[in-house]
Amino acid sequence: MDTEEAITHFGFRQVPEEAKTGLVRGVFDRVATRYDCMNDVMSFGLQRLWKTALIDALRPAPVMRLLDLAGGTGDIAFRALRRERRMEITVCDINQSMLAVGRDRAIDKNLLSGIDWLCGNAEALPLANRHYDACTVAFGIRNVTHIEAALKEVHRVLKPGGHFLVLEFSPSQPELLKAAYDWYSFHVIPRLGARIAGDAEPYRYLVESIRRFPPPRRFSVMLEGAGFANVSFRALSGGIVCLHSAWRI
Ligand SMILES: C[S@@+](CC[C@H](N)C(=O)[O-])C[C@H]1O[C@@H](n2cnc3c(N)ncnc32)[C@H](O)[C@@H]1O
Repeated sequence: MDTEEAITHFGFRQVPEEAKTGLVRGVFDRVATRYDCMNDVMSFGLQRLWKTALIDALRPAPVMRLLDLAGGTGDIAFRALRRERRMEITVCDINQSMLAVGRDRAIDKNLLSGIDWLCGNAEALPLANRHYDACTVAFGIRNVTHIEAALKEVHRVLKPGGHFLVLEFSPSQPELLKAAYDWYSFHVIPRLGARIAGDAEPYRYLVESIRRFPPPRRFSVMLEGAGFANVSFRALSGGIVCLHSAWRI
């Protein structure tokens, strides 16, 4: 009998599918405490503008139920609550270390209500059907092993009329930008990781994983395949990042 195991990518490496989630968890375990600081340094603060674009598109409203998936240290949740304090937010992430940093940040900000912190895998959400008005995923979806399974899960937990917003790096750059962007990605970012977070390896994975993520048009097709309608995307900062929008009907 043929017992070939399923293979997937982890950055530029090929790994057994069943190993990827654990490897991704390890990456974020290693960077959790320096994660937010590194984001600002690596992106020259641009990540703040990208996240603001996401929150603008979300249009936070009173009693809106938001699932912030792969929500890590809670950055999107805090930004949403800053706009509208009466939202109910679930931050779901597979990594306990990232969530622990998020909870500490919430205490520092005196945000003791409004956010539930949930450890769970995007591919099998421990959440009820049709519960959320909106779902956001910022820089998380490319880390998921079976992206289609996660998209179907988001579709399941959103209410009809629910809004799904995904912020993600784009693998394809305009020719003019490409050489400089590649040089910065492969030479500077891992060095910054070593200097600031004490570990270059997670940042090598970061830049490689971006190159493995589907281009925006292909990701739109995946969203439609999961049942979403009115799918669109907007390129930010010359196409380094894309903001995808889709609706559950
Ligand atoms: C780059 S961080 C983004 C964190 C946060 N959304 C932000 O923008 O600051 C990616 C997050 O995805 C989480 N993640 C990776 N695979 C996941 C999965 N299968 N299910 C849920 N979360 C996952 C990681 O643990 C990590 O916290």
